[in-house]
Amino acid sequence: MSSIKICTKKALFDTAPDFYGLFFEDINRSGDGGLYPEMLRNRAFEDSILPKRCEPLKGTYGFVTPEGWRDQFNNGEGLERWLEGIEKTPVPAWYAHGVSMELNVEDRLNANRLAALDLTFEPGGSVTNIGFRGLSLVQGQSYDLYLFAKGRVKLSVNLESADCHVYARESLDIDAPEYTRFDLSLCPDQTDPDARFTLSSDSGGTLMIGFISLMPRDTYKGHGMRKDLMEMLKNTHSRFLRFPGGCIVEGFTKETAIRFPHMIGPVWERPSHNLMWHYRTTNGLGYHEYLQICEDLDLEPMYVVNCGLTCQGRKPEFFEGEELEQWIREAFDAIDYAIAPARSRWGRLRAQAGHPEPFKLTYLEIGNENDREVYFSRYEKFYHAIHQRYPQLKLISNTHTEKLGLPTQIVDEHLYSTADTFVTAAKKYCDYHRNGPEIFIGEYAVTSGLDIGNLKSALAETMYLMDAEKNQDIVRLTAYAPLFQNVDYTAWYPNLIAFNNHACYGIPFYHALSMLSKSHGQRLLCTRSDVKNGYPEPEGLNGLIAYQEGTRVRNVKVDGRPAGFSHGIIGSVTHHEDGSLELTSDYTDQLEGYPNMGHIPPHTAFVTFGEEEASHCTYDLEVLLLSPDQEIDIAVWAHSTPMLFSRDETDPFYTSWNPVYTDRYVWSIKQGQGRFASVNRFNYSYFGSTSPLPIRYGEYNHFQVVTRHGGFDCYLNGLLVQTAEMVPYPMIAELASEDDTYIYVKIVNFDKTHEAVEICLDCGIQAIYEAELLTGCPKDTNSLEEPLKVSPVTRTFDNGADTFTYQASAYSFSVLRLKKAILREVS
Ligand code: AHR
Repeated sequence: MSSIKICTKKALFDTAPDFYGLFFEDINRSGDGGLYPEMLRNRAFEDSILPKRCEPLKGTYGFVTPEGWRDQFNNGEGLERWLEGIEKTPVPAWYAHGVSMELNVEDRLNANRLAALDLTFEPGGSVTNIGFRGLSLVQGQSYDLYLFAKGRVKLSVNLESADCHVYARESLDIDAPEYTRFDLSLCPDQTDPDARFTLSSDSGGTLMIGFISLMPRDTYKGHGMRKDLMEMLKNTHSRFLRFPGGCIVEGFTKETAIRFPHMIGPVWERPSHNLMWHYRTTNGLGYHEYLQICEDLDLEPMYVVNCGLTCQGRKPEFFEGEELEQWIREAFDAIDYAIAPARSRWGRLRAQAGHPEPFKLTYLEIGNENDREVYFSRYEKFYHAIHQRYPQLKLISNTHTEKLGLPTQIVDEHLYSTADTFVTAAKKYCDYHRNGPEIFIGEYAVTSGLDIGNLKSALAETMYLMDAEKNQDIVRLTAYAPLFQNVDYTAWYPNLIAFNNHACYGIPFYHALSMLSKSHGQRLLCTRSDVKNGYPEPEGLNGLIAYQEGTRVRNVKVDGRPAGFSHGIIGSVTHHEDGSLELTSDYTDQLEGYPNMGHIPPHTAFVTFGEEEASHCTYDLEVLLLSPDQEIDIAVWAHSTPMLFSRDETDPFYTSWNPVYTDRYVWSIKQGQGRFASVNRFNYSYFGSTSPLPIRYGEYNHFQVVTRHGGFDCYLNGLLVQTAEMVPYPMIAELASEDDTYIYVKIVNFDKTHEAVEICLDCGIQAIYEAELLTGCPKDTNSLEEPLKVSPVTRTFDNGADTFTYQASAYSFSVLRLKKAILREVS
């Protein structure tokens, strides 16, 4: 049995009011066609236009930036896999039948538009938009259309099924020599999630469309956002919203960095942006809209500004001199737009957009995931300029700039890693200096390893947040990333909320997050626990990493059976006649195009043996070692989970076994000494002791590693020379907080067995209490078909007492709401 003691007599500290927040970035087509429910894809006809200064790669397949970063393009349809089942068309999403259709880049609606759609209808011709994998129509609802067009044509404007059954029809006679705005609304007589929008003409004619939009009339609070997705956000009980990114703030070229002036004003006048997530946004979901979302959901706005450089992981470009000063001015303008009075220059624009009262603006982050000297100098400039003019804003740095002596209020730390890492990762905050800057965990998610987006990773993320909560005196803000995924346009996985054009669901962690934030409490209580520990349970292949060219290996066996070379993660092997394999380190091509590559020493080779990933096995190999300088890592549990996004940004696609995303444990043999480490990329976390090894230099040495639950036994030439125990971690995590009425006890059981947990309190509670419980099989996840497969249930118990037992189900997260017997007096 595990036990938890809760001391209510003295609260540790007040909880951080904005601890739970949201991070929105337009990724996975979460803006247009998502939260911003535009129904027509490519409404500005600019999708197929290459980003400025970028050169096409292989026709329309991809492009390369002047600095050499490559991305898929596919004539503006984005990723190749998004095209599955989609017929090719010269103007993405638009299909012409009996109509000549082309882009006109000369005769545009305004200077910010890049093209217009130039159509010549034959009698009976039509042009159709397929939306974001169909338009979702609900019977009896109104859909508002506007377009800026010129020409002479009598049109029929239809909402219809994929096989041309008409649900709604309106006539539109256009006889306009100049661009003119036309508005109408359509009300379908049937529900269809896969409908089409069609303009047809019986008599034929000419039409130039400068911009077109179709939106549902029924939106959240009438402010234009998709209702079900806003409700999902509301149910997270969050306190702030970080926007608009993410890497998109940085861009992959100077022109693709998100700029404030492009995000305000009439939407048809806003320049569009190619986002590094492989599509173009028309910026209809812009700065004003983000601030409105914050107001509608009662969230503190956190605006992220580009501070004069593009994405450092994607071959950056730098703004200098006057260009850099302009970014600072734009940051001022954005702040003024949000908070200056309506009579001011920027306040007037805000008022014209429908919001005369100032919005709130609470936090401002200087850059996204930027680092190194090029960031520090820019950060310092931005910090001083903004702080001096707007001292009320809380400013956030991307890295620990205080260590360089720079003024630093809040530091944004990001963590994307394995579930095992998450279980204990936030414990590090116990060691942080209490007088240092506040910490914002601005992006976190389990993105690699065996469990992603399922219940097990949700439990690991919950344990991470519970440890972060225990450090709320310095960890003041947190946000999971990314927030949204249109399942038809996935560029990154996992994401908190998934949707298609008409339905949505939260991944298991969505529910855990909402349970956590609802029961945040006002004060953190001191807990002492005596709980069972456990070990990570990895699975993977065996392998060998050699740091010297030409290392030879032979007689490789897994569980006594010969295991052949299977993957050249870095370099490869040459087979020799004597049956040995020589590791070769020619890997230039393999590393080409990897973003965020860790440091790989020169002459490294990393190969695996066998195909079957195992959790426990006996691994034998013989390695020819010539001197103590010849260093090797004997790898076990090598497992590769490439993050989706980086695969899309390489050309040709890399194989799934690649150096960036192959985690492993290694028996690292250096200078005649052996030591164990778990390795993520090329970052080593050593554990256990270092042992001298009786290696026989100049000959093949027989190494054997036996992997078992919680550790390793290592043999050299038949002798047991080293054992290593993995670092155990708690299988039960606990956290307690209170408000004036309730004590909230949170318990994660990360183990595969149920566990009785004795809870001892130093105060009286009422016998009847509720527990919200999230549980299931560790690999369970939610989907459009089973949106609530992993979702909380509430149970009522009657055994509440100062000491009582709670049965924590296997793989579960519980929040117990204990009502105090004597309510604390409110002063
Ligand atoms: O959340 C997805 C991406 O991860 C963000 O754009 C970036 O900040 C991070 O690298």
